[in-house]
Amino acid sequence: MKPIVIAFIAACGLAFAGAPEGKTVFQAKCQACHGPKGEGKDAIAKMFKVEMHPFSSKEVQSKTDADFKKIITTGNGKMKPVTGLSDKQIEDVIAFVRTLKD
Ligand code: HEC
Repeated sequence: MKPIVIAFIAACGLAFAGAPEGKTVFQAKCQACHGPKGEGKDAIAKMFKVEMHPFSSKEVQSKTDADFKKIITTGNGKMKPVTGLSDKQIEDVIAFVRTLKD
């Protein structure tokens, strides 16, 4: 095997556990409202008349994993619960949100 291939495989192993799968979940279930980096979409914020905190912010990152799970499964203020996710997918998407930290 060529060294470059080995280096590539090693680099992939550095990603957070669950985060790559979580990214797929995020793109399917969260991105439409929260944007590709969780920055929040102005149009959505205006429509719901709320301020959406970027996922990189302290307000969001200071929440616990249990808080995130609750937000995803039971909703949060104007955000409706996100349906159709397995427990594993919820854990993965939380792992992905953690990678959005500044
Ligand atoms: C239909 C649009 C929509 C979708 C889809 C959506 N959200 Fe939200 N989300 C919102 C809105 C609007 C708010 C702000 C709610 C409020 O403040 O009343 C919010 C708030 C949040 C917050 C709290 C942020 C804060 O300001 O404290 C988190 C965390 C969050 N969403 C995570 C997610 C995750 C993870 C997903 C995907 C599994 C998701 N959301 C899918 C619209 C959405």
